Amino acid sequence: MNPTSFVLFGATGDLAKRKIYPALYHLYIHHQLPESFSVIGLGRKEFTDATFQAHVKQSLHDFYRMEVQEDDNLQAFVSLFGYNNLNIDRTEDFVRLKNRLEGWEQGIAGTASRLFYLSVAPNFFGVIASQIGQSGLDAITGWKRLVIEKPFGHDLASARELNSQLSQAFHEEEIYRIDHYLGKSMVQQLESLKEANPVIQALWTNKYIANVQITADETVGVEERAGYYDQAGAVRDMFQNHMLQLLMMLTIHAPHNMASAEDIRMRKKKILETLDPLYRQNVHERIVRGQYTAGQIQGKPVQGYAAEPGIAEGSMNDTFIAAKLHVDNYHWRGVPFYIRTGKRLKAKNTRIVIEFKVPLSSNVPLERTYVPNLLVIEIGPDEGITLQLNTKDPQSKGEFKPVRIDMFPDKAEAPEAYETLIHDALNGDSTFFVHWDEVELSWQWVQPVLEAFAANEVPLHPYAAGSHGPEAAAALLAEDGFHWWFDEPAEPVTELEVSDLGEEQPMKEASVV
Ligand code: BG6
Repeated sequence: MNPTSFVLFGATGDLAKRKIYPALYHLYIHHQLPESFSVIGLGRKEFTDATFQAHVKQSLHDFYRMEVQEDDNLQAFVSLFGYNNLNIDRTEDFVRLKNRLEGWEQGIAGTASRLFYLSVAPNFFGVIASQIGQSGLDAITGWKRLVIEKPFGHDLASARELNSQLSQAFHEEEIYRIDHYLGKSMVQQLESLKEANPVIQALWTNKYIANVQITADETVGVEERAGYYDQAGAVRDMFQNHMLQLLMMLTIHAPHNMASAEDIRMRKKKILETLDPLYRQNVHERIVRGQYTAGQIQGKPVQGYAAEPGIAEGSMNDTFIAAKLHVDNYHWRGVPFYIRTGKRLKAKNTRIVIEFKVPLSSNVPLERTYVPNLLVIEIGPDEGITLQLNTKDPQSKGEFKPVRIDMFPDKAEAPEAYETLIHDALNGDSTFFVHWDEVELSWQWVQPVLEAFAANEVPLHPYAAGSHGPEAAAALLAEDGFHWWFDEPAEPVTELEVSDLGEEQPMKEASVV
């Protein structure tokens, strides 16, 4: 890897200490950083290099997922860090930064490269990108890359405006947009799950799949983010980005043997282009919005959204959204995709449930009921796969009963999203980043929803904190003859635990007749 400067704007902020420093440390101790590597932290605070290094060290103690030893390795790691005070409105601060980077680059062998990581509020993205351009920070012999985090605009027009500002200093292929859901280990494995399992691949079509449910339920409320969240709502905070990314990653049919980043980008774009368009006058038929009222979360009383500090009086903001979508292509035509996400729901989990069709055969007696087969992909906080099958129950006159096969790999094995994403950005692999086409097309799809919400053309359904969301979300599926699959299995089940995926499970020898 080229000698690289990691230039971090917002170096004293929350994301940096919780995610970025621990991720860099993980990459460092696993020898996954370039051999010549330096981090320049930037912020408004008056830090010296030494106070900044102490800050980084403390963040590792507080937030790295394993215990951090006070050893030479740790010292060597923090010595990679330096700090510059920077006010984004002052071009001279950018010039000072450029001089410092050049000083470091002159002392090392190889083609120097720069990664600019903007861990700051999105309204600063544009001005920072243009200051980078004006100060000449972007003039470099090696590569330069820009890393930014969602939100990428708050509607279609602002997203386009932001993109044109970024493109003053960076080409599209130099922009790495993070959606941390794409860094989640199960999301990264979706393609290989199909590739490695022909049985799943064979069933991955509208011939066998009845519906797909993509859900991200949260138990937290707005926390300290009322100012942002009251303007964003679930539709901007989760749906337009994380949820539509999950839909894309699930539905692309990538060729075998690891498709390239460009291939994945094209296929994701195609999915958004084939999404059944939504018109403002139809929003109420396919979208349910809700807002939580007071209730109980895990036995503790919590207040309603309207009473949360910082929420505007009479706010009609959505803390819950459910939607029905169709991907109109050869593989998925006719399969409804239901998406649901919200705050203050019963349990925290992000999962994809694939419900298979039940047999419709003249040989099946009418009174016999099947529970549909399900493939459940648990994305967080647990990661794993569950397959629900039916077996004959000898205790109830040969009726069928569902059993579940659970496969939950050891959690410590799974990398953190920021570890893989920062590693990929340093290596120029954009497979699990968001490309401009996806940003633009997803805002385009969501735009009528934003407009209908703003004009209050869609009812705002109250739901009690700690519930599964508003009744109307259940009705969205009921009208198609389905229901949401929550944690509770529909019937009592037997659990067949396969505890360690990494270890070969002994197989019983089949008796040959
Ligand atoms: C963020 C949203 O992008 O994702 C938060 O802004 C949300 O509101 C969070 O809580 C959920 O992420 P995760 O990884 O906990 O599912």
